[in-house]
Amino acid sequence: MAKQNRLILLAIFVLALFVQFAAAQANQPTEKIKILIVYHSLGGHTEAMAKAVAEGAKKIPQAEITLKKVGEVKCQELLVTDALIVGSPVYWSNMAGEVKTFFDRFSMECGVLPPAFQMRDKIGGAFVTGGETSSGKEIALMTIVAAMLGNRMIVVSEGQALGAAATTGDGKASVTEKELDEARRLGERVASVAATFKRGKGK
Ligand SMILES: Cc1cc2nc3c(=O)[nH]c(=O)nc-3n(C[C@H](O)[C@H](O)[C@H](O)COP(=O)(O)O)c2cc1C
Repeated sequence: MAKQNRLILLAIFVLALFVQFAAAQANQPTEKIKILIVYHSLGGHTEAMAKAVAEGAKKIPQAEITLKKVGEVKCQELLVTDALIVGSPVYWSNMAGEVKTFFDRFSMECGVLPPAFQMRDKIGGAFVTGGETSSGKEIALMTIVAAMLGNRMIVVSEGQALGAAATTGDGKASVTEKELDEARRLGERVASVAATFKRGKGK
């Protein structure tokens, strides 16, 4: 009888271990989070910010990052991504025409228009660089964010209130370490929110 009891206790112990192990496995955030960073850059400043955004996103272990220029993005990449972060130089107090064309092109070519709204619930973020302190960076950020909201995306910010931004002066100065750090924080936050959101949806 004592031997039988010991066997039962052992079985319970093994079962408890198994349940604990299974629970720990279920809580492991193993699923990849796709982060697509898209930008336009002629002078390299916005590209430097894009790379910093990617560095920040990499801090989230599950993040799988794709960095692309606006003209290189394929519909499939947009449709499967969990998050989209878009960067632009400020051109005439707005996003660059190339970035606007990117939004227009994907709206028409990738079947995301209403009622499909295939970009719905993807996490979005924006970053810009502009030559002058106060010559349109906020408007450019807002135009990018507005395009994302129009697509029913969920927009988050970090760095500055509306996204990350750098002032590049006459174009010869580099983006500062502080500005790059803000871009890193934007990337990290978007990736982190995307991971939390995907886990919450359970898919
Ligand atoms: C056509 C054009 C228009 C621009 N308009 C603005 C502007 O309205 N406000 C501003 O702050 N900078 C303006 N700039 C400066 C760029 O935004 C700035 O140099 C930017 O950092 C360039 O980014 P890139 O090095 O990634 O190409 C303009 C530049 C160009 C070429």
